[in-house]
Amino acid sequence: MTKINKKRVEEFIRVDHAGERGAVKIYEGQLLALNTFVKDENLKKTIEEMKVHEKQHCEFFENEIKKRNIQPTKFLPLWDLLGVGLGFGSTLLGKKAAMLCTASVEEVIDEHYLNQINQLDKSEKDLKKKITKFRQDEIDHKDIAYDEGATKKGAYLLLDKIIKTGSRIAINISEKI
Ligand SMILES: [Fe+2]
Ligand SMILES: [Fe+2]
Repeated sequence: MTKINKKRVEEFIRVDHAGERGAVKIYEGQLLALNTFVKDENLKKTIEEMKVHEKQHCEFFENEIKKRNIQPTKFLPLWDLLGVGLGFGSTLLGKKAAMLCTASVEEVIDEHYLNQINQLDKSEKDLKKKITKFRQDEIDHKDIAYDEGATKKGAYLLLDKIIKTGSRIAINISEKI
């Protein structure tokens, strides 16, 4: 088996860093709505708990970026803005949309992380272990989102498609630049 090349691993870390940071920003946007226009203490608690995991994920990749001297994506400021906007906007639409936002993003990330896990070999054992753990956290978030009312019925299906397409575009860009 050939060893995974360094450039590919760097792309993985760059995009994962951007994604996890984006996740933190989405939850920040949701909490912003929940601290202003929307009153839902239970939803707030759920989101705060998930945000703790995203912060841990993000910190891990931030460390890897520093350790390995990787250039983070140049689009971070844009992703920050779009992440907060998506979180804020989805929560204004209501609990179902807020939770669908988590479910849609996590479905893309589940697939994305699995794809990386399948490419990582023994030379990146620790990274592979971490991503495997994070993927499980994301699957748990997705399950929580569906338990809390995420739905793809009617117009929500369109929202799901928009969020997924946007997430995939952000992933493709952040791997490279
Ligand atoms: Fe995460
Ligand atoms: Fe997550």
